[in-house]
Amino acid sequence: MRLTRRELLLGGTAAAALGAAGVYELVDRVTEAPIRHFGEGRAPEQHLLDGLRIADDDGVEIVVPTLHHQMVTATVASRPGLEEQASLEQVLRHLENKHPGTPDGLAVTVAWGLPYFRGHVSGAAERHLPVDRRASASGKPRRALLDAIRFPSDPDDTLLEENDLAFLLRSDNLDHIQEGAKTILDAMDGVVEMTSIRKGFAGGGFDGGPGLPKQLATAAGVPGADLIPDGSELFLGFTSTQRHALGPPRIVNFETLGLVDLGPDSYFRGGTHMHLSHIFENLEAWYLNFDFAERVDTTFRPRLPVEPGTKTVPQPPEKAASPDDVASDFQRFGAIGHSSSLQPSSRLQADVMGADGTLYRKGTAVPQRADFNTLDNPFFWSGDPKRDGMAEGPAAGLHFVAFNPSSDDFHRNRLAMDGLLPDGTRIGLAPRARGQGLNSVLRTTHRQNFLVPPRSHRSFPLVEVAA
Ligand code: HEM
Repeated sequence: MRLTRRELLLGGTAAAALGAAGVYELVDRVTEAPIRHFGEGRAPEQHLLDGLRIADDDGVEIVVPTLHHQMVTATVASRPGLEEQASLEQVLRHLENKHPGTPDGLAVTVAWGLPYFRGHVSGAAERHLPVDRRASASGKPRRALLDAIRFPSDPDDTLLEENDLAFLLRSDNLDHIQEGAKTILDAMDGVVEMTSIRKGFAGGGFDGGPGLPKQLATAAGVPGADLIPDGSELFLGFTSTQRHALGPPRIVNFETLGLVDLGPDSYFRGGTHMHLSHIFENLEAWYLNFDFAERVDTTFRPRLPVEPGTKTVPQPPEKAASPDDVASDFQRFGAIGHSSSLQPSSRLQADVMGADGTLYRKGTAVPQRADFNTLDNPFFWSGDPKRDGMAEGPAAGLHFVAFNPSSDDFHRNRLAMDGLLPDGTRIGLAPRARGQGLNSVLRTTHRQNFLVPPRSHRSFPLVEVAA
């Protein structure tokens, strides 16, 4: 059953697209009512959800992501002042009073792009935007928020976006997300202009059943959907949120690892950095050109002994790969794994006593990924369809979202994924070569870096300082 874009979208205008579910309303028809969660979900950090469930697969702990995700990007229409700041804060608090910040409630994260800081609060930003100490060590001071860059395995036409802000909405209930997005954008009518809506899903098969990626890709008639293993968390067949491969809650806060200088008043304490990108995934190339062992080699590490059909492959701290491990894998097998090539940059290389008083052991993961699969092509809705390359019909992809302590920290991860390791080791694989981890079946179309303020400064940050 191939869906036309019309059926996929079920609505033309931005407002209609916000309220529309399209193919994603199928999710609620194919999944059970979610388990009730505990807690309020009102941590000072916007990127933290309360009550995330921990599941178990073959003895490996998995952080269960929310079923639904939506990202709305926008630009600021007019010079924001205290009034705009107050009305955004008011609508966010209204939603918080209505829904707990847990998977069965609604979690909203507001992130701000460099164009906002340059265009609307530049003086205050000069004083308060955090500085990346590690990235500044080589000379000129570098901010924790940098412009996005193209990576070696990115096609030349990867768009580096210039949005002022982005809203990330997460929940197990689709209607909470639609209500949240519509309530915020209605309240911000005339203040912000939407530039894109991106929708997606993850998981749904940890307690049995085919899971959302398989069900939705099949419902949409995406080529290769039938090859997706039942129950897998993502289209490419492997669990990507095992607890050991995700940073612990506060490790990505600007202040925790001491990587970032928060400036005179620590205005952004409790804040973090978010990277957003859209990646097309070629499912047929993945499942037809790579057998199971090769998919494990490519996703995790060459020649890792894994039982056929396994979806969750343990990646404990003590087994994190070093640059030498990655280099010797390449020497011996002519290939690098996605996880193993990332680990020299995504895992702590030594014990660190965090500013929050937690001792983070060597091998602990740092980035917190919140990525979700999608059928958007490449977006559910775009304010500039030509620029964004909007195309007909559903397409398998991933809206990649990751929280890191800084842009430079994310850039280090992404460069490592291309074999450029943080210690200077260079893996001689051509961009998107078959041996270069997952890259050969991925194509990135859009990228941008954002700053995620603490909850206390999430609405038009620094406007009150600039006023
Ligand atoms: C379609 C694209 C992608 C897919 C399907 C994917 C899938 C995965 C999977 C299955 C894992 C193993 C997780 C685990 O051990 O639980 C993983 C780990 C990871 N991925 Fe990706 N990934 C993708 C893109 C990216 C991108 C673009 C980045 C950016 C840097 C990235 C960063 C990471 C990191 C940091 C880890 C954890 C590594 C570690 O510390 O063990 N991934 N990914």
